Amino acid sequence: MNSTLFVCVTCRGSDDAAGAEEVRPGARLLAALERQLAADGATLEIVPVECLSNCQRSCTAAITAPGKWTYVIGHLDPDCHVDDILQFAHQHQAHSDGLPIWRERPAHIRKNTIARVPPMLSKEFP
Ligand code: FES
Repeated sequence: MNSTLFVCVTCRGSDDAAGAEEVRPGARLLAALERQLAADGATLEIVPVECLSNCQRSCTAAITAPGKWTYVIGHLDPDCHVDDILQFAHQHQAHSDGLPIWRERPAHIRKNTIARVPPMLSKEFP
């Protein structure tokens, strides 16, 4: 099952001094991820969102897929962590339950996982 990466485009990161006219770090993170994904020729659905409720530890992204664990990752720097995010997203996509082996995850991801959420229980509706 393909994973989806949600990227908060309204995150200000640690750049509180950024003016209202400037592109927010979250939007820069999204653009950097899309550029790198295109350069790699890789496939991953990336969806921009506005606020993942992790503003104090931004920039923020979340990786999820149907039937898999969801991870919220914080303290992401658009200039430093693009490769880490994409590596973790690919690890998530490759694992049947979305549980990449902890020691194989990028160090920044290991240290800045804000939350993980189990998959929804499947229910049959009449
Ligand atoms: S603005 Fe990005 S998590 Fe709130």
